[in-house]
Amino acid sequence: MSAPYKPVPEAALAGSLRDFRSPAGADLMARVTDFYAWQDLRREHDLWPYARSTSTAPTARCEARSDTGDAFSGINFASQDYLSLSSHPAIKQAAIEAIGKYGVHSAGSAALLGNTANSLLLEESLSSFLGGRQIVLYPTGWAAGYGSVQGFVRANDHVVMDILAHSCLQEGAKAATQHIHYHGHLNLDAMTRKLERIRADDPHNGILVVTESLFSMHSDTPDLAAMRALCDQFNATLLVDCAHDLGSVGEDGLGHLGLQNALDDADIIIGSFSKTFASNGGFIAVKTKAAAEYLKYYSATHTFSNALSPVQAATVLTALQIVRSEEGRTLRRKLMDNILYLRSQLANAGLETLGDPSPIVPVRLGLEGVGRFASRHLMALGGIANLVEYPAVPQGGARFRFQVMASHTHEDIDQVVEILAKAMRDADLEYRLGHEGDQDPVLSVPSATPEVV
Ligand SMILES: Cc1ncc(COP(=O)(O)O)c(C=O)c1O
Repeated sequence: MSAPYKPVPEAALAGSLRDFRSPAGADLMARVTDFYAWQDLRREHDLWPYARSTSTAPTARCEARSDTGDAFSGINFASQDYLSLSSHPAIKQAAIEAIGKYGVHSAGSAALLGNTANSLLLEESLSSFLGGRQIVLYPTGWAAGYGSVQGFVRANDHVVMDILAHSCLQEGAKAATQHIHYHGHLNLDAMTRKLERIRADDPHNGILVVTESLFSMHSDTPDLAAMRALCDQFNATLLVDCAHDLGSVGEDGLGHLGLQNALDDADIIIGSFSKTFASNGGFIAVKTKAAAEYLKYYSATHTFSNALSPVQAATVLTALQIVRSEEGRTLRRKLMDNILYLRSQLANAGLETLGDPSPIVPVRLGLEGVGRFASRHLMALGGIANLVEYPAVPQGGARFRFQVMASHTHEDIDQVVEILAKAMRDADLEYRLGHEGDQDPVLSVPSATPEVV
């Protein structure tokens, strides 16, 4: 093992963020301290791999610091700069020129005076990329997701949602209505049953069906045509969040909307600029001017939040030009080559990947405690990937989320797989040392989220 065995209290290996979600007590500040104590125990044993910061650009090899300030460096599979555009010379130049012309700040909501010429060009360019849709811009992808549900859904309406839909969509739904109906992940039979029941009881109000074109923890995809058909059958509206695959997947960069020829199937498309498009920000794309204008004044995260900065608008505009160019196609082919190579090298090393080929490659770890050890070893050995644990994924379904970039080399991949295999062997051993007598706990992985209906 890379470090001598040091006993770790069980409390640092067990528990989850969910345990502290609803603290009791009248003093709002006092009741949050239990979380801090648990977090700090993990930190003390180097088992808190979150809130790390880069000290260099998020390139294939990068330097970073832990949340306690310890420096480390390594092969970076924890950035979502999928086409590696964040350091592209043309994009940096566009950002510099935007600063020269507009300064650094948009100084207002897009509903007032916050737009710039570049944000209008970005709307036009996105519209043409997405088959002529109307575009509304948001300061983040999260704001777009939240605003897309909160903007359209009212208290008597229903939201039918995949249990793994992103937090922005779930929070938007909670803000809009109490009629939220979750169905099991990608389970169209369960979705059908929900729709049947809702329509039998309520023919009058709206139903918004919410899904993602690429689920970011599982790297899997719904059948969008089948969802469209169900929406037509039950008079429902289909929303698809394409944060992770738009720009990065498919010959034309349209992600699964393009691969499934489903661009027209979604009534509402939302996307984020924070993955492939080298910036912060997001958008909603709808089919009519009426729907876009409604969002501009009724989705709170557009109306009551400052517009994209001039630098962000110029950056995304240039990134989109590259995404749509021959260079973009070449980068996507390189990215997919890296994805397939990583998945095959992981399989050769006896490691289990989840989902389908996409820039997100989840690697199964199992128990949270094993995952925490594995994350510590990976970082110490010079590999950087994000640990995902319950409640973001099912209990006992901890995983690394490797995020692949076009700029990774096969050598980066070979090295990281070797490091990962060692980190996982060490983690398994360390966990077993502390749990002698337990019944093969490391491999006990339930297959579904417990609260799924
Ligand atoms: C599916 C999905 N939607 C929305 C978002 C939010 O995007 P942003 O980080 O740009 O706010 C994310 C971010 O990770 C995401 O994974």
